[in-house]
Amino acid sequence: MSRLVVVSNRIADPRKTAAGGLAVALGEVLNNSGGLWFGWSGKLVDEPVGTDLPVHKQQAGPVTLATMDLTREDYEAYYVGYSNGVLWPVLHYRLDLADFDAGYIEGYRRVNQTFARKLMELLRPDDIVWVQDYHLIPLAAELRALGCQQRIGFFLHIPLPPPLIFAAIPGHDWLMKGLCSYDLVGFQSRADLDNFTRYIQDEAHAQDLGEGRWRVFNRTLQAGAFPIGIDVKEFESLAAGAESMDMFERMRREYSRRKLLVGVDRLDYSKGLPQRLRAFRELLAKYPESRKSATLIQIASPSREDVSAYTDILHELESLCGSINGNYGELDWMPVRYMHRTVARARLPGLYRASRVALVTPLRDGMNLVAKEYIAAQDPDDPGVLVLSRFAGAAEQLKEALLVNPYDTAGTAEAIHVALEMPLEERQQRHQALLATIRKADVHWWCDSYLHLLGQAEAEESGTP
Ligand code: G6P
Repeated sequence: MSRLVVVSNRIADPRKTAAGGLAVALGEVLNNSGGLWFGWSGKLVDEPVGTDLPVHKQQAGPVTLATMDLTREDYEAYYVGYSNGVLWPVLHYRLDLADFDAGYIEGYRRVNQTFARKLMELLRPDDIVWVQDYHLIPLAAELRALGCQQRIGFFLHIPLPPPLIFAAIPGHDWLMKGLCSYDLVGFQSRADLDNFTRYIQDEAHAQDLGEGRWRVFNRTLQAGAFPIGIDVKEFESLAAGAESMDMFERMRREYSRRKLLVGVDRLDYSKGLPQRLRAFRELLAKYPESRKSATLIQIASPSREDVSAYTDILHELESLCGSINGNYGELDWMPVRYMHRTVARARLPGLYRASRVALVTPLRDGMNLVAKEYIAAQDPDDPGVLVLSRFAGAAEQLKEALLVNPYDTAGTAEAIHVALEMPLEERQQRHQALLATIRKADVHWWCDSYLHLLGQAEAEESGTP
C-alpha cells in the first residue's frame, strides 16, 4: 500500500478532537498508511526572505507531522496578500475586494517553491501526494519541475468562479496551468467543476477524453466533484459528551420561553452576516410576535485579522447588532446575542441541538460544514430547521433544507418565519432525509472516493508550466 502524503497550509494534530472532522478523517487515512502531513507550522520568524528554514518533524502516532515556519515577509505576501487578498475574494466572486499587488504573487510562488523543495527531500518513490486548497495551487508544477513523478492530487475546498471572473486575476493562465499539473483535481460541487471545464475548454482548448479525463497543456488529468462531508459518528459522540450536554441544558434553561436561532461562522465577508442580520431585522419588523419568541445567537469567530476587508466587515456587523438590539430590545430580552469569539468545538453540538433554526446563509461558500454539523446534532424526535443559502456548495446536496437567496432580505426573512413555525411532522421528515444524505456522503466517503480515483490515475511528469 502506498504511503499518503497530505500537504496543506494549516495542519492539525489528528489525535486532538478540537481539530475537527477533516483533520480527524485525514488523520485516519494517514494512520492507516503511516502517512506524512506537511505544511506551515503557524509560526513566523523574523529572518530575511530566502533564509533556509528547517523542517520540524513530530510524530503523532504513526503519522509524521512535518512543518515549516514562514518569514514575516513571506507570510505577508503568500498568506495575507495573495492567498487571502487575491485568491480568496476572487474565488468567492468578489473582484471588488481583491488587491492585485504585483509583489504578492512572487511571494506566493516563492513559498510554493520552498515547500516543493523541502517536501521533495521527504518523498518516497511510491508515495501518493494529496494537496489541499488554494494556498498551494502551484505546488504540483513546482514538484514536477524538480523531477517528482509520484501521483499528485489536489482538492479545492473553496468555490471556483466562472471563467470570466477567474480570468480577471493577473496571471490566471499561470495559475490554471499549475492546477492542470495535478493528476486529479477535486472540487466541492458540480457548479465548480463546470466552471473549471468551461475555463480549460474556452481558454486552453482542452480536449474532452470522457469520464472526467481531459487533455490540456500537453498532459492528461482527471477532474471531478467530491462534496466533502463530516464525520457523522465523531460528531454524534461529541454531542453525547459532557461539554455538549452541559451546553444543551444551559441553553434550554436560559431560553425556555423562546426559540433559538443560531449562526456559527468565521467572521468573513463571504458568510453573508450583515445580510443575515438584516433579514432577521425584517422578521422582527414584519412579525411582531417574533419579538417575544425568537433570539438569534450569532457567533463570529475571529479570522484573518491582518486582511483589511475583515476589519471592515467586523465594524458593519457590530453596528447592525447594536442597532437591532437598540431598536427592538426590551428590558428582559435582546434579539441578538453576538459574540466575536471562538466557541470550543466540544460545546457546539449542544448549542446546535438547543436551537430551533440554524441560519447558514453565505453569499458564496465552497461547501459549509456547519450546515451538516447542525443536522447531525439534532434530536430526530424534535429536530430543528436548516435555513441554507442556495450559494453554499452544500445546497447541491441538502435539498430538504429551506433554501434561500441571501441577497433577498424579504425572502430570507419569510423563510426564517416558515422555519420558526414549521410543524413537528414536517421538521422530522426534512431532518430524516437530510441526515440520510450526510451519513451517506460523509467525510470517509469523500476521502475514499477521492483517493480511490487518485490511486488509479497515471502519474505523468510532462507539462510543467
Ligand atoms: C477555509 C479554507 C481553509 C482554511 C480555513 C481557515 O475553510 O478553505 O483552507 O484553513 O478557511 O482559514 P485560515 O486562513 O485561518 O487557515
